[in-house]
Amino acid sequence: MKYIIIRGVLFTPLCLFLFALMPVFAEEVSPENLFQTAGGYGCGACHGKYAHGGGFVGGNIRGATREQLDSALKGEPTMLLLAKVLDDNKRNLLVDHLTSLGEMQLIEWRLGESATMQTIKAQVGTVLQLVLFNGTFDTLTLDLSSIEASNNYHISPYDTQAITWLAKAGRYSLFFKNEKIIIEIN
Ligand code: HEC
Repeated sequence: MKYIIIRGVLFTPLCLFLFALMPVFAEEVSPENLFQTAGGYGCGACHGKYAHGGGFVGGNIRGATREQLDSALKGEPTMLLLAKVLDDNKRNLLVDHLTSLGEMQLIEWRLGESATMQTIKAQVGTVLQLVLFNGTFDTLTLDLSSIEASNNYHISPYDTQAITWLAKAGRYSLFFKNEKIIIEIN
């Protein structure tokens, strides 16, 4: 009787303790997290934070397939080390992430690097992703209220940020100094 009580008293806290540790052991990673951390430096180091290329060595891989990933892991010298740490499940997670990025229409704006105007056309109902890169030494403040983001949007020097939203009909203009992006949605 005494033995049973002691066992019960010890067993319950032990179970709770192990239960609390479960997420640590299970190593649950989201596809996005894996993309940012794989191999220590993440895929973003060579393909950009949003897999958009962004002028990095690896280029735009949004929408890449499992076949493309496998062949890059086999044949691309800079990616060979990653092949060892990415099992079947992790590769599928990465492809899920690339697929969801590939379903969005990418609009890239490299702030401080172009004095031009871009006009982008999109269809109503598309998910748009504006990837902003601050190529200046200053923190920049933008008015992005027309695309449902802040009218006081801050981006640090050399940082990359994304705004994702659903395209609604209209003509939207975004400005920074003499740079301008016009997004026409029909
Ligand atoms: C050290 C740099 C580096 C890292 C880190 C890296 N890649 Fe690559 N990757 C490359 C280069 C370089 C290429 C070849 C680009 C080309 O052919 O234009 C490439 C190609 C690819 C391709 C093939 C693209 C195509 O058009 O077929 C895929 C898919 C890809 N990488 C996915 C990833 C994923 C996912 C990760 C993270 C697990 C990753 N890469 C990490 C450098 C890198």
